[in-house]
Amino acid sequence: MARVLSGIQPTGDLHLGNYVGAIRRWAVEQQPEHFYCVVDLHALTVDYDPAELRLATRELATWLMAAGLDPTTVTLFVQSQVREHSELAWILQCVATYGELHRMVQFKEKGQGRQSVPAALLTYPVLQAADILLYHADEVPIGADQRQHLELARTVAARFNQRFGEVMTEPTPTFPEVGARVMDLQQPERKMSKSLPAAGGLFLGEDENATAKKVQRAVTDSGTEVRRGDDKPGVTNLLELLSAVTGSDIADLEQRYAGAGYGAVKRDVAEAVNAFLRPVRERHAELAADPGAVEAALRDGAERAREVAAATMERVRDAVGLLP
Ligand code: TRP
Repeated sequence: MARVLSGIQPTGDLHLGNYVGAIRRWAVEQQPEHFYCVVDLHALTVDYDPAELRLATRELATWLMAAGLDPTTVTLFVQSQVREHSELAWILQCVATYGELHRMVQFKEKGQGRQSVPAALLTYPVLQAADILLYHADEVPIGADQRQHLELARTVAARFNQRFGEVMTEPTPTFPEVGARVMDLQQPERKMSKSLPAAGGLFLGEDENATAKKVQRAVTDSGTEVRRGDDKPGVTNLLELLSAVTGSDIADLEQRYAGAGYGAVKRDVAEAVNAFLRPVRERHAELAADPGAVEAALRDGAERAREVAAATMERVRDAVGLLP
């Protein structure tokens, strides 16, 4: 069975786009050889508030569990709680080159216009390579924006093996199909995102009232006809939302709402989204009421991850010439 590693940044609140696009499928596909790493060390490379980061890390793990990821089936853990990540990252910094890191598009974008750029923004992809190589991951599911980072991980693994002997497994990136594309309610030409104003996003962590209000205030298009079309980005998004959370065909929905007007669609979208998220929100509330239990599950995950990571590090230390 292929070993899979997913890395997820604990930044910002999860929205419906995250959930129907990817997270809801994780619970369905979960298997024991899947490692889910909440990458809090990567989140230190941008401006952040320490108390907020700690909260965001626990919250992300809580939502993943609420969505159905079972921490006794998969290995769900926090990157910084497995110290080997930092240790291997240093060693791999001695293998990767400055030129390679400097060419990374994400480094150029994130560093641009900043007065002072943390060195870790440059070495970020090496830490990511360590996340992957510690576990001998065969597959790493990513979005297209991470393609270059994965290529670097493969390069570093191959160079390490050539220089020090076969220790690393070269990972293969996979590009899982996005379940459904959810657009912003206020700017329906853009993907729903935590970096757009909150009025356009539907967040897992908000209450049903807030969700319903935002749907009611969603921008619609000229005309009254309820149908999908490039000239109707707002209505199209509402129909796709409804389809994503109910499983209905868009064509069936167009028929159902023929002559009904935008108001009826919005009412049903609000209701359907809330009904869809209700079990996840309820489960989250239960889990969040006992943060100690969530933290215990994460410590347990870190312990299981560390068994694999420590074994890799022993081989790495030996290979590169460190004392045992
Ligand atoms: N850089 C990834 C992102 O921004 C997050 C990440 C860190 C990651 N370590 C990883 C992804 C390891 C896959 C594997 O999304």
